[in-house]
Amino acid sequence: MTPPRHGARPIVVDETPGMKAYCQCGHSGNLPYCDGSHARLGTGLAPIVVEVTETHKQAVCQCHHSGNLPWCDGTHATLSGSPPGG
Ligand code: FES
Repeated sequence: MTPPRHGARPIVVDETPGMKAYCQCGHSGNLPYCDGSHARLGTGLAPIVVEVTETHKQAVCQCHHSGNLPWCDGTHATLSGSPPGG
């Protein structure tokens, strides 16, 4: 099984309304969105699908340790090895 790949900080997007599939394996070529790599690589993971109802700026977690996935809650900055000022 291919292990997940974690990012050091969130990806901030100007999100628009619609159904969004947020990558949880870290291998997508279109982060923060899923591109199906999770299945192709056999990660055993799946995206988190959310219906976005309004346009807004959103920080999408890439460390995958947030307590409010798929949204960043700042946990990345507390992880050992995270860059200063995360
Ligand atoms: S590509 Fe990562 S969850 Fe789909």
